[in-house]
Amino acid sequence: MAPDFTTKTALITGAGRGIGRAIALGLADAGTRVVLLARTAGQLEETSGQLRERGVPAGRISVVPADLADEGQRALAAASVLAAGRVDILVNNAATVEPLGPTIGIQARDLRAAYEVNVIAPAELTAAVLPGMLTAGWGRVVNISSGIVASPAGMIRGNAYAATKAALEAHTVNLAAELAGTGVTVNAYRPGGVDTAMQAWIRGQDPERIGRLHERFTKNYAEGTLITPEHSAAALLAHLAGDGTGGIWDVSTAPAGT
Ligand SMILES: NC(=O)c1ccc[n+]([C@@H]2O[C@H](COP(=O)([O-])OP(=O)(O)OC[C@H]3O[C@@H](n4cnc5c(N)ncnc54)[C@H](OP(=O)(O)O)[C@@H]3O)[C@@H](O)[C@H]2O)c1
Repeated sequence: MAPDFTTKTALITGAGRGIGRAIALGLADAGTRVVLLARTAGQLEETSGQLRERGVPAGRISVVPADLADEGQRALAAASVLAAGRVDILVNNAATVEPLGPTIGIQARDLRAAYEVNVIAPAELTAAVLPGMLTAGWGRVVNISSGIVASPAGMIRGNAYAATKAALEAHTVNLAAELAGTGVTVNAYRPGGVDTAMQAWIRGQDPERIGRLHERFTKNYAEGTLITPEHSAAALLAHLAGDGTGGIWDVSTAPAGT
């Protein structure tokens, strides 16, 4: 039986734009109370405004500006979200594609920042919301990954991104096994090539620095192969209705009807 999303609260990171915003809109359309997290308060307010235009009551929307790269801000954000009540659904969507460029020139501090946002923040937020989910006997954690994990050689000069997303998927599958039978599911989602600011940012980088990545991303955009954030979010939400855990969901294998 599909869960009653109207009784649930979802925390969506990176909800200020792109795929995260579309997931937040989709969850709110299903009746879920949503907590929107990202750094840029103005973009969170835009998402919040779009939700209110769709008829979502202001009391069912919370906005939490925070930098997930910063351990202190992460802890404060998690504490303030949980002070308002249990999180039933956590969508770890925020990520950075930086640093890009030849691996020989990547500084350790930039690599650390990528792991901080793409791996450590999702793991830490999950640990923060898990006690409430375990007590309730129900919870959904979704970690937004990338198809690059299936073919890491396809993103030359994006070593940090490919490696962090692979780490995120291993974390996901391992934790799902640890939590088997608890009612808390943990899955990863590969959203496809989606027309967002992240894609635009990559196209705007110096081709000298990012090499073939520039050509590939520019070509995908020019050929119209990118999907909309709404399309990708709908496929994710269709998966979320099920009880599967430890899965690597992909937009191209979405359940029928999406
Ligand atoms: N677009 C694609 O084709 C594609 C393909 C495969 C996987 N993905 C994955 O899908 C997810 C969403 O990507 P997108 O394309 O929608 O990206 P996007 O348009 O760049 O949006 C990223 C969101 O994450 C937030 N964010 C980034 N760094 C953050 C930080 N340090 N602290 C808090 N929030 C942060 C951003 O807001 P602020 O900048 O305001 O913080 C923004 O709201 C990512 O996990 C990405 O790796 C995307």
